[in-house]
Amino acid sequence: MDASRYRALMRHQAGAVTIIAAGRPGARGGLTATAFSSLSDNPPTVLVCVQRRSGTHGVIVASRAFSVNILAHEQQTLAERFSGKGGASGEQRFEGGAVWETMQTGAPVLAGALASLDCELLDEHEFATHSIFIGRVVDGRFRTEGGPLLYFRNDYWDIGAR
Ligand SMILES: Cc1cc2nc3c(=O)[nH]c(=O)nc-3n(C[C@H](O)[C@H](O)[C@H](O)COP(=O)(O)O)c2cc1C
Repeated sequence: MDASRYRALMRHQAGAVTIIAAGRPGARGGLTATAFSSLSDNPPTVLVCVQRRSGTHGVIVASRAFSVNILAHEQQTLAERFSGKGGASGEQRFEGGAVWETMQTGAPVLAGALASLDCELLDEHEFATHSIFIGRVVDGRFRTEGGPLLYFRNDYWDIGAR
């Protein structure tokens, strides 16, 4: 199967949109990602798949930490910004008006995300174009109101109120 057929299949998996972020102010990196999964609850771990050519890849490896910020439906513009739309890269992506804070690891954490997980990098597996990063969740926080931003069939979706 070629890559375009594979992508045509995978775009039917509705995914929660996240921003994975790392680094210190002045040298931060972040990218929009749907390749995020829980791994185990004891220890509390998650995995994310990040393309090695992404500017954020090296920042995660160097800082040994990253955050996963699960976006709310009203944060589509931010998702677009962190996927490269508009041309912002690296630190510039953090200068669009959103508030970024830190928790335990020092990785940037998005104020207003549905939930944020603050992770220390435990392990890294390189495969083809991507790395699988395994993070231990050392801190986190969540909102109790608001719905998720989803990505499905090459577009953003707001599933609305239940
Ligand atoms: C909805 C959506 C989901 C994405 N998921 C991932 C992902 O899981 N992993 C990844 O490496 N890139 C993913 N991307 C692509 C990156 O967001 C995009 O290539 C980004 O510009 C990479 O950052 P860079 O410009 O620093 O390389 C996704 C893009 C979109 C729009």
